[in-house]
Amino acid sequence: MKYASWTNDLRQSFLGEILKTASYTETISFAGGLPAQELFPNQELKECFNQVFEEDGPIALQYAEARGYEPLRQWIYDRINTRSKLKTTSEIIITTGSQQGLSLVAQTFLDPGDIVLVESPTYLGALQAFQGYRPRFVMVPCDEEGIIPEELAEILTKCQPKYLYVIPNYQNPTGRQLSLARRLEIIEIARRFNLLILEDNPYGELRFEGEALPDLRDLYENVIYLGSFSKILSPGLRVGFLVADQKTVSYIERAKEGVDLFSNNLTQRAVYKYITSRNFKEHILKLRKVYCERRDTMLQAFKDYLGSDVQVETPKGGLFIWAKILKTKDSLEFLNYAQAEKVIYVPGTFFYPDGRRSNEMRINYSCSSPEVIEEGIKRLGRAVERI
Ligand SMILES: Cc1ncc(COP(=O)(O)O)c(C=O)c1O
Repeated sequence: MKYASWTNDLRQSFLGEILKTASYTETISFAGGLPAQELFPNQELKECFNQVFEEDGPIALQYAEARGYEPLRQWIYDRINTRSKLKTTSEIIITTGSQQGLSLVAQTFLDPGDIVLVESPTYLGALQAFQGYRPRFVMVPCDEEGIIPEELAEILTKCQPKYLYVIPNYQNPTGRQLSLARRLEIIEIARRFNLLILEDNPYGELRFEGEALPDLRDLYENVIYLGSFSKILSPGLRVGFLVADQKTVSYIERAKEGVDLFSNNLTQRAVYKYITSRNFKEHILKLRKVYCERRDTMLQAFKDYLGSDVQVETPKGGLFIWAKILKTKDSLEFLNYAQAEKVIYVPGTFFYPDGRRSNEMRINYSCSSPEVIEEGIKRLGRAVERI
């Protein structure tokens, strides 16, 4: 078969393979990026779906508008409009998860060979979403505060990217948060170079400490913003949203029509019922509390079982810890030792478009109980002893 040329760039589905193995062995997996399923409000969502059938009737099963269910868009508008200056709900479109937003933005903006700036490291799924539109990725160096402004400015003197993709809060994979000072500096640079920013914020609500920082969208007009209900309600619902100027939204809408016509009408209505008639705020507070406890358990376990063999960053929210195993240079190779001890993580190499090897790893703490976290990190400690 003659596949499109971008398929040549696909890396082996190594990750899929290890995740599959983990699902039928007794391996403890810290490799997924899953929210805790015992915290999904199953019963309440079930009631909300029933309510949609009873109250909305067959219209909920009908074809619907590509932009999404208007009351849901209005709710999002009211919620996110505290600091920013949206004029109407036509600056919002519902997407099938924020993943679809990533893909639609790439479809709308990229011609083959265009440059996309990404954080280094960045979300693997974004690279996959963009890849089909054949861009060239340029990695912007980051440290524990996120993108390094001087590096960004330097890169912008050398190339003209279509956009910069950023996850400012509790980034995937590092858990890092872009500091306020950095946000302001980056916006100043973006203004100077007239740079479009694609801001992806699925984790912002999962804040364990500190004050919420302003979104880049609140500080700068040239931003496309992606939000999602996946991490604060349930990813299986596949409800996310995109915020941009009206013209961009209208192009995205056309792209979306070509992909799936509209996001699931029934589900959008059930999500709307949930967030307006159940205690959504309470639910988010609970998630923060449980995830924070799991983060703390994992940090403590690292201290107890790996001590000075590991360097970890403490995330202030989100689902992930970024760690470096100091006794190895290559966390992909070290995975063999970890698998032998029945524990897995995602090696850092997968989050770099150039596939560079390092001793970094992404470890998820949200979907394991404290007991499993403790046991898994104990196993990781044993794996380090095997080196
Ligand atoms: C940074 C980031 N963006 C987008 C997504 C996709 O999320 P959704 O379920 O909303 O499509 C994820 C999922 O893990 C993510 O980590």
